[in-house]
Amino acid sequence: MRPPAGVADRVSSTMSPERIKRIGVLTGGGDCPGLNAVIRAVAKTAMLQYGIEVMGIEDGFLGLVENRVRPLTFKDVSGILTRGGTILGSNNKCNPRRFATGTAADGSPIFSNVTPQCLDSIRAHRLDAIIVIGGDGTMAAASTFVHAGINVIGIPKTIDNDLVGTEISFGFLTAVATATEALDRLHSTADSHHRVMVCEVMGRNAGWIALTAGVASGSDMILIPEIPYDEGSIASYINRRMDSGPGFAIVVVAEGATSRGGSQSVARIDLSSSEPIRLGGIGQRVADSIAARTSAEVRTTVLGHIVRGGTPIAADRILATNFGFHAMKVLMEGARGRLVVRESNAYGDIDLLTSAGQQRRVSPGNPLITAARAIGTSFGDSEELSSVLPGSSGASSPSAVW
Ligand code: F6P
Repeated sequence: MRPPAGVADRVSSTMSPERIKRIGVLTGGGDCPGLNAVIRAVAKTAMLQYGIEVMGIEDGFLGLVENRVRPLTFKDVSGILTRGGTILGSNNKCNPRRFATGTAADGSPIFSNVTPQCLDSIRAHRLDAIIVIGGDGTMAAASTFVHAGINVIGIPKTIDNDLVGTEISFGFLTAVATATEALDRLHSTADSHHRVMVCEVMGRNAGWIALTAGVASGSDMILIPEIPYDEGSIASYINRRMDSGPGFAIVVVAEGATSRGGSQSVARIDLSSSEPIRLGGIGQRVADSIAARTSAEVRTTVLGHIVRGGTPIAADRILATNFGFHAMKVLMEGARGRLVVRESNAYGDIDLLTSAGQQRRVSPGNPLITAARAIGTSFGDSEELSSVLPGSSGASSPSAVW
């Protein structure tokens, strides 16, 4: 694996650290557990180690558009380590380069480039750098400011864990823990009522949450966007589990999953957002297909925003603290336009533009998928993998992994 970039990679783009007297911090995109822990780490490191003033920018980039920027005191950032959400507020629609400023006669939004307004706010508050905490959409918006000559240091945030360049973003592990607990609870009903329980989880176009929570909860079937499923294979697997296996099944479905040759299930389209598509509904689609093709009783649960809320687990608090500290360290070493990352368990930084607007998805050859398949978990893509279930009369096919 590529080691994290270090000081040597950034010598061509440095900024004299002694010029940095005041920084702004913003949280963009969907909220997630650990945002406050990062704000705390950034602000406390800035204040205690470097004597730098910290300004909080409200509601992501919207705070720059509307000039809503306020000082953060040491007291403001104390006692927030365990709190969910973000004390600064967030926004997952605002990209200053394409900002909805009105509505056309046909109801569609009219977009304007409001970057100059944001630059005015940055100048008005004398911000020497901005710490931007967000995912790929937020980093794409941040790239405008990098190009405009503003020093931006990014910190990777997303429950989806799909940011390119880092093996992990904070918020993901808490989301997985919450989803795992929910799946564990669904087990009771599945077992007692001999049902198929289908559970849809967030994750956008990546299956990281479904894969990891699915494995952690011992779910029987995991459907992710990276491995299109086959409805016939799903039905065969369920029939075998119901008829000659334990008589119940837990199916975890990533919101971005699709059938082979099928399309994603879109819950709504928000044209005022720079990422207009909101996924949702695939869990019910899978449940309907199972109900139509088998005699099993099927129920659907959609976890939705539940996995995004609440207090960060210990691992996320540690990640957040390390990321926040590292962002300040990188900034004060003179770096510009960098994203702090973790690769091979080490903290480093990469060019912020590398990750902007990109998504890191699960490889179908991921070792966790191999391990899950080896213990009989189905990915809905291959009937023969289920042939070793108890009661099966068929021999393992040559393509079975066990
Ligand atoms: O990116 C985080 C995320 O929670 C995705 O998993 C999900 O698809 C999306 O945000 C939901 O967005 P919203 O909160 O706008 O419905």
